Amino acid sequence: MTSPSHSPVIGVFDSGFGGLTVLRSLLARMPAARFAFIGDTARLPYGSKSRRTIARYAAESAQFLTQEQGAEFLVIACNTASALALDDIKQAVSVPVLGVIEPGAAAAKASSTTGDVLVIATDATVQSHAYAAACQAHGLRALEKACPLLVPLVEEGWTSHDVTRNVIRIYLNELLADAHAKGMTPDTLVLGCTHYPLLRPLIEEAVPAGMRVIDSADSTADAAAQQFKSAQSGDGKIEPATSAQELSTTDPETNLVRCFATDSVEKFARLGSRFLGRPTGPVTLVDLGG
Ligand code: DGL
Repeated sequence: MTSPSHSPVIGVFDSGFGGLTVLRSLLARMPAARFAFIGDTARLPYGSKSRRTIARYAAESAQFLTQEQGAEFLVIACNTASALALDDIKQAVSVPVLGVIEPGAAAAKASSTTGDVLVIATDATVQSHAYAAACQAHGLRALEKACPLLVPLVEEGWTSHDVTRNVIRIYLNELLADAHAKGMTPDTLVLGCTHYPLLRPLIEEAVPAGMRVIDSADSTADAAAQQFKSAQSGDGKIEPATSAQELSTTDPETNLVRCFATDSVEKFARLGSRFLGRPTGPVTLVDLGG
C-alpha cells in the first residue's frame, strides 16, 4: 500500500462548501490519498456570474492547488465551473482535470430507462446547456431548470426548513409541468449543483414516486479513482493512492485533508463539516484577489 506521505495530492475545488460532498465520496474511495480542497467562499456564488468571471476565478483556484499545494490531479467539484470553465482550467494548469458534468450525465444514463431526464442547477449552468449536451451525447433527452434560490437556502443552513420544502416543490412542479407539456416521460432527476445533495431528503419527498434522484459526487469519485488506475498502467506520471481492494474501505485516520477558504474559515469549518460528514479539520484563509 502506498503510504500517505508518498501519495499524490489530489486538488478539489468548489466555489464554496458544496464540493465537500464530492470530497466525501473521494475519501471513501481513496483512503490513502492526500487531498487539498479550496472553497472560493469570498466570491461565491459563481452561479449568477458571467462565463468570463467564472473562468478567471476557477483558473486562479486551480493554479493555487497545483502551484502552491502541489496537486497532481484536479477534481472540479463545482457544476458551474465545470459547465463554463473546464477548458479554461485545463489551459491554466498542466495536470489532468476532471469535472462533474460528464460523470453526472453518465450516472443519468445508467439510471434512466425512459431516456428522459430532468436537471436542476444554477442559472449559469443551465444557460450553458452543458448537461443537455452531455446527456445528448449519451442518447438522453434532458430538460434543465435553474433554481437560484436553493444555494442561498443551503448557505443559510435551512436544509430542512418548510420554506425550503415549499421552494423545492414550486421549482419541481414547474419543471414537471414543462416536461409533460413537451411530451417527456422523465424518470431521473440530476442534482446539477454540488449544494443540492444537502437538500436530497426534501427533493426526494417532492419528486413523483419512482423517480430516481442522482448527484454526480459518487460518479465523479468513481471516475477519479478510475483515472488513477489508468495513469498507473499508462505513463506512470500519477502514482495511484489506492488499489482496487482499497477502494471499498474507509480509514479517516489515514487520510490527509487540507482545507482552504477565501472567506471566513470559522463558517467554512462549521458548515463544511455538514457537507463532508465529518469535521473539516483546520481551515486556512487564502487571498486569491478580487
Ligand atoms: N457549487 C456551485 C455548483 O455546483 C453552486 C454554488 C455557486 O453558485 O457558486 O454549481
